[in-house]
Amino acid sequence: MKTYARKPDFPTETEIVVTCASGVESALKKEIFRLFQKEVPAINGAITFKGSVSDVVKANLNLRTAERVYIKTGDFEAKSFDELFDGVKAVRWEDFIAADGKVTVNGKCVKSALFSISDCQRIIKKAVADRLCEKFGYNRLPESGAEYHLEFSVFKDRVAVMIDTSGVALHKRGYRDKTGVTPIKETLASAILFYSDFYRIRPFYDPFCGSGTFVIEGARIALNIAPGIDRRFAFNDWKNFDEKLYFSLKQEAADGVRDIKIDFCGSDIDAKAVELAEYHAKRAGVSGAVKFSVKAVKDFKPRQDFGTVVTNPPYGVKASDIRSAEESYKDFGCVMKDFPAWSVFAIVKDGKRFEKFFGRKSDRERKLYNSELECRLKYYYGKNSEKGN
Ligand SMILES: C[S@@+](CC[C@H](N)C(=O)[O-])C[C@H]1O[C@@H](n2cnc3c(N)ncnc32)[C@H](O)[C@@H]1O
Repeated sequence: MKTYARKPDFPTETEIVVTCASGVESALKKEIFRLFQKEVPAINGAITFKGSVSDVVKANLNLRTAERVYIKTGDFEAKSFDELFDGVKAVRWEDFIAADGKVTVNGKCVKSALFSISDCQRIIKKAVADRLCEKFGYNRLPESGAEYHLEFSVFKDRVAVMIDTSGVALHKRGYRDKTGVTPIKETLASAILFYSDFYRIRPFYDPFCGSGTFVIEGARIALNIAPGIDRRFAFNDWKNFDEKLYFSLKQEAADGVRDIKIDFCGSDIDAKAVELAEYHAKRAGVSGAVKFSVKAVKDFKPRQDFGTVVTNPPYGVKASDIRSAEESYKDFGCVMKDFPAWSVFAIVKDGKRFEKFFGRKSDRERKLYNSELECRLKYYYGKNSEKGN
């Protein structure tokens, strides 16, 4: 078996695809504009733009609302397995995959002549392996190295093939390693914060903080701590990836941390949840900047005249929990009535029921999905709030 002498180089320009959860595309679009100065539309939960390998790293390290970052390697029409094989084999895989790379494939077929996912997986894998064996001089791929995961989609006979550069989904920042209460995903929490009038120098509170996600994500945004700073990505294991570039961009992100004082707090009726929030805050590097306490929402009294509440009150999904959830909305509404300069942004399962017990019609609402559950983000702007997200 020959060994491959040349270390493959990633092309200088690639097509980057960033995906996000349904409902938060506009938040991701704004983030991409801020990070790359690119105005690109979001289509079916994905934003595609041309960029460099350095942009792939930056996107993974810095985007707070993205689920994954891919490099698109193929985009062609195929109505037969032969066309699929030829289209995949034509891609310059040797530029992306190291000689010892382990190739895995997953995907979906929608409204297409090719409808068997498992057959498409097999054909794609074979086409990639054939190409790499020819280029590297192997009879068989050793596949003894790091994983390169390929995602394909066949939609109306159009095939797209992409390499996943993130690995574990990006909502897993790395600081949350224990679960207790049902937490909101970090990516969705960040998107809701972007939609709110939250701002780093504005007091911030979550009176149903659970494991602390809104307070922690909010503090990390305010202090400019990159969401991916503590975790690894799929490309960290790739021999052919530019490690120096990664470390310099990681350093650049670390240098951007802001040293400012913030007033971000959370409370919850459940002492175990608060303990978890404190533990996560420590792991997320913000424990000195945020405060948590054990408190029922009826005892929440903002200390400042104005500020922002972003929260995820109990949903009352089980019949036995409905009454106590409604009670908590009522308590919450009573407290906020006395603080008209505080804005409230609450993600709830049933918007009408929330309004009824909270005691006010919202100024606006937005449809979002918390995992698979359809929810509403209710907007209540405080007096003099900076609206407009
Ligand atoms: C959906 S969970 C919040 C999850 C949180 N966003 C997270 O990411 O972990 C709702 C939280 O409300 C708390 N809760 C329920 N009733 C409450 C009340 N009356 N006062 C304060 N907290 C309450 C529960 O203990 C639970 O932690």
